[in-house]
Amino acid sequence: MIYASFKSIGAYIPTEVRSNQWFIDRMDTNDEWITKRTGIKERRIASSEEETSDLGAKAAKIAMNRAGISSADIDLIICATISPDYMCMPSTACLIAEKLDRRDVMALDISAACTGFIYALSVAKAFIESGMKKNVLIIGAEKLSNIVDYTDRTTCMLFGDGAGAAIISATQNKDEAIVDIQCSADGSQKDLLLTPSVQSSEASFMQMKGNETFKIAVRTLTSDVQKIMEKNSYKNEDIDLFIPHQANYRIIKAVGDALKFEDKQKVLTVEKYGNTSSASIPMAINECFEDGRLVKGKTMLLDAFGGGLTWGSAIIKFNG
Ligand SMILES: CC(C)(COP(=O)(O)OP(=O)(O)OC[C@H]1O[C@@H](n2cnc3c(N)ncnc32)[C@H](O)[C@@H]1OP(=O)(O)O)[C@@H](O)C(=O)NCCC(=O)NCCS
Repeated sequence: MIYASFKSIGAYIPTEVRSNQWFIDRMDTNDEWITKRTGIKERRIASSEEETSDLGAKAAKIAMNRAGISSADIDLIICATISPDYMCMPSTACLIAEKLDRRDVMALDISAACTGFIYALSVAKAFIESGMKKNVLIIGAEKLSNIVDYTDRTTCMLFGDGAGAAIISATQNKDEAIVDIQCSADGSQKDLLLTPSVQSSEASFMQMKGNETFKIAVRTLTSDVQKIMEKNSYKNEDIDLFIPHQANYRIIKAVGDALKFEDKQKVLTVEKYGNTSSASIPMAINECFEDGRLVKGKTMLLDAFGGGLTWGSAIIKFNG
């Protein structure tokens, strides 16, 4: 039997720090409002020379290095993004393949908004367990500053740029395997979070009904975790790190409280990076790896929600 294991993590954090003061200098807002409603103090912004594929390729190189493999060993590249370098083609995964010096590899993008990394994980697991691929590079990469409307004060301060990547590899050892992943979508709620179509005369900036999104996010993130935990007979004490999508501190707090996780289990990076969509979970995993909270054998619970609507969760043993 072949299983999929989570071998390594990497991230690229752009160097420019954009604090709340940047927004205060440009629009009618204040630090107290932003901090109280979102928990965000700073986000990172990519430079004009860096596109989404650059961020993704940099994160990918770190993940490959930590897994002890080269790009020649990768047989599938999946990039989750809602801010691709090009609108429809070529895919950002193709551009990342080029930046990793690969000319003959299967490469595709996933569009599942903030749930993108969990969707990518699920596709990687299926390809590996079917025996079709051995080492899959999955990436969540976003240059959201390209699609944020900086005249919309209710949404623009929420988002930042960044990328995270992971290597998912085949193993025959069940103890090293990803335990479970579940992904869902409901297109009937498409109007809550969207970027206008390419045919639209409106600029292609992200639009969000923040208040409604907030309530549905809390409800969905909570019930999705309850489902996957129950299905796999997992209890809170079986989880070392609860890593939710980093959208908003109040959403994470409400979900964490409802699920009764202890503070030491909860991972929070939203204060420093804001919402980086598909990159937020792998960037948070990377932070845990770099500060020593994530070591081989630890169990992570991932939980995400985003435009589409899409949502998903995963229970993963880290095999790095
Ligand atoms: C965006 C969000 C922070 C707004 O908070 P909210 O409590 O819903 O705020 P509202 O939109 O109801 O606005 C409340 C008040 O703040 C004001 N306001 C809006 N933006 C403001 C800003 N940047 N600074 C100061 N005041 C602001 C509004 O005008 C409104 O004023 P009023 O009561 O006098 O009319 C919140 O809805 C949210 O976080 N939603 C989820 C977003 C998210 O995470 N999406 C991604 C999911 S993957």
